[in-house]
Amino acid sequence: MQSSKKEKWGSLIGVVLAVMGSAIGLGNFIRFPGLAAKYEGGTFMIPYFFALIFLGIPIAWLEWTIGRYGGQKGFHSTPGIFRILWNNRISPYLGFLGLLVPVGIFMYYILIEAWCLYYAYLYLIGTFPLFQGGNAYIEFFTNFTGMKQDGIVFDSNHTPILFFILLCYLLNMWIIYRGLVKGIEMISKIGIPLLFLIALIILGRVLTLGTPDLNYPERNLLNGLGFMWNPATSEKSFIESLMNADMWLAAAGQIFFSLSVGFGVIITYASYLKKNDDVILSASTSAAGNTFAEVALGGLITIPAAFVFLGKEGISDSVFQLGFITLPHVFEKMPIGQLFGFLWFLLLFIAAITSSISMLQPAIAFFEEGLKTNRRTSISLLSFITLIGSLFVIYFSKDLVALDNMDFWIGTFGIYVLATIQIIIGAWIFGVDKVYEEAHKGSLIKIPKIFKFVIKYVSPSYLLIVFISWLYQKLPSYIQTLQTNTTARFTFFFVVLLSIFFILLIVQANRNWKKENKGV
Ligand code: PFF
Repeated sequence: MQSSKKEKWGSLIGVVLAVMGSAIGLGNFIRFPGLAAKYEGGTFMIPYFFALIFLGIPIAWLEWTIGRYGGQKGFHSTPGIFRILWNNRISPYLGFLGLLVPVGIFMYYILIEAWCLYYAYLYLIGTFPLFQGGNAYIEFFTNFTGMKQDGIVFDSNHTPILFFILLCYLLNMWIIYRGLVKGIEMISKIGIPLLFLIALIILGRVLTLGTPDLNYPERNLLNGLGFMWNPATSEKSFIESLMNADMWLAAAGQIFFSLSVGFGVIITYASYLKKNDDVILSASTSAAGNTFAEVALGGLITIPAAFVFLGKEGISDSVFQLGFITLPHVFEKMPIGQLFGFLWFLLLFIAAITSSISMLQPAIAFFEEGLKTNRRTSISLLSFITLIGSLFVIYFSKDLVALDNMDFWIGTFGIYVLATIQIIIGAWIFGVDKVYEEAHKGSLIKIPKIFKFVIKYVSPSYLLIVFISWLYQKLPSYIQTLQTNTTARFTFFFVVLLSIFFILLIVQANRNWKKENKGV
């Protein structure tokens, strides 16, 4: 097995597909439609594109550029790359979030991935329960996820879901073990085209649904699309909906989550590029592919389909409710719904696995370059850590409190902090001029010069405003839950422990790097 230090992508299209694979995930097909519907779709697209242009794309360019630069100096993990961008004692430690965020997200994302595979399997063999009613679906979902009681997923009724979680685990580790080209790149080259194909088939079905139930003539496709996309509603004008601060925060959060920026993942992927491989067009192409999958595919499938069968009342903006409760209800009513149910959950599974593998590579790269472990030891260590985390989330399943708190501290708070640190180290300390020059080495297109200003001033100000408003809005309720809910407290404690663990590993890695006199 090749050590990651000498690994390189097989082709530029391979890395673009791998980054697209990381970006296109559950966020595109269920998180985005839920949010867009909540904020009158058409209006939501305005803060969404604002965040894409002033946060998502500039930070993606930055991550691709500093990633490739770090790779040239022999580093592939955020702590290592920060160390060469900023020759300071604390710089590698600031990179701990580039390990904590992807590894922490993996711990719960893998569960949702397994739910998708489980549903796909049930549709495939034709045993997905038919309930003829909304509540029964809720019952089914709360049961198999163990939402009613902690620890319940470990009793014998839950063997199937545990089996699917284990299967997803092994699959992820196996892909990573095969390495960059034979693992990640190969899966992305198959997965992404397949994913687009399946999504287009489902979209074709949804756009030809017409008015499936003549007893409800208003539940037709056009009204479904209107419900999703019209900027104004009968209650609110376009300007009124646009003045909603919540929506601006949600749009920025969605851009981060969806593009996989601020996670430490793109930095690692880009570090395996060759010296003169293009970064600007590649970053832009993967962002464009992600936006297409999100807006044109995710945005046209989920909500309109739910609308024509269940009407406005049947649609929830909660991600899990929409994906795992509302949609099965829709497939039950749809002609040959079993086939479409299977295709849909297969699509979600492919989207999820190409994302989850990307969450593992940063830590593998770090173990190999910092702790000098070989691939096998690195995978064993990472499997051990992620298994503890996942078992924790599986055990504390009541109301999915552990999952939700982990997503809050790692998957949202952590991302904002990491993105801020990246901009400070990249655009301010390393310097925006150097980043600009570095980005253009081997590039196939040019970034307009104005973006130097955007990356240095606009993106960080935008980010800080979003981050501070988000903290102001959400932090008090999460702090309060820490006082009232034991699981929330345990989760917070677990996140702190995991952070300390990574920081200690960086202490060791830093010693090794100093001994080798590497990089700086
Ligand atoms: N971008 C993925 C999605 O839209 O579902 C989620 C994701 C990928 C999160 C990679 C974290 C990560 F490291």
